[in-house]
Amino acid sequence: PLVNTTEMFKKAYEGGYAIGAFNVNNMEIVQGITEAAKEVNAPLILQVSAGARKYANHTYLMKLIEAALIETDLPIAVHLDHGDSFELCKACIDGGFTSVMIDGSHLPFEENIALTKKVVEYAHERGVTVEGELGRLAGIEDAVNVSEEDACFTRPEEVEEFVSRTGVDSLAIAIGTSHGAYKFKGEAKLRFDILEEVQRRLPGFPIVLHGASSVIPEYVDQINTFGGKMPGAKGVPEDMLRKAASMAVCKINIDSDLRLAMTATIRKVFAENPSEFDPRKYLGPAREEIKKLVKHKLINVLGCAGKA
Ligand code: G3H
Ligand code: 13P
Ligand code: ZN
Ligand code: NA
Repeated sequence: PLVNTTEMFKKAYEGGYAIGAFNVNNMEIVQGITEAAKEVNAPLILQVSAGARKYANHTYLMKLIEAALIETDLPIAVHLDHGDSFELCKACIDGGFTSVMIDGSHLPFEENIALTKKVVEYAHERGVTVEGELGRLAGIEDAVNVSEEDACFTRPEEVEEFVSRTGVDSLAIAIGTSHGAYKFKGEAKLRFDILEEVQRRLPGFPIVLHGASSVIPEYVDQINTFGGKMPGAKGVPEDMLRKAASMAVCKINIDSDLRLAMTATIRKVFAENPSEFDPRKYLGPAREEIKKLVKHKLINVLGCAGKA
């Protein structure tokens, strides 16, 4: 069934694991993710960015997810990723999403609270859960380039006031991750001390980790081997994600790894079969690789296999 995130986060917090929130943009991605979850019986969050909604159209994405619900019978939340306005959140809520993120993290504290609270009021009246954000991720967020130096970690002393005044159901925090395939120049480092302090101040409250792709080195190598150019791509090591999942982090966002799995697979097919021109011959293997990747995440990284 289509569900909001309340029950899945409560169980994840208590069980010391995290739900995978995977970005969806087309049919093969929806199928790869949901077939993996079905095989290992995992709850799922399928998330849709403003860009995904623009690319694939709200109705198409919603109908693809409805098809996945019929095929899998899993608890699935449909979530707006990085909503940037009340109007966008409202459109997604009115259009059947069960969860939305209002990302006011670029706003001054009081404005972030006012915008987030407005979305929470509209959402909660309709049974929809809301994710807010405090602190800014390094790298590319909202199509604005925030340099690594400007990255601004979440200030733990602000979280209690933000959560109590807005009524949000979960909170995304910035502890050193970033979006995309180039997360660290040198050694990967996350501020677990900030996560610990947030957890201490908000006992039992679900925390969200954005920018949590591992940027799987095998995919990067395969892309570079077959004509791509992604030097220096680097992500969050899996052991750090396992540690976060064992703590207050209940939702781990993954998009880049899906993109890498697809691209690495398609590049290989094209390189090895230059005469191939049937889209099913490269989208099919790409879907299969996404399924394999997501199964690995659910079982070995997030710990949510068997929890549906
Ligand atoms: O937050 C970033 C997600 O990976 C979504 O990316 O806005 O290109 O769809 P997108
Ligand atoms: P990645 O780019 O690390 O996959 O992060 C995705 C994300 O945070 C979507 O909101
Ligand atoms: Zn994000
Ligand atoms: Na957790």
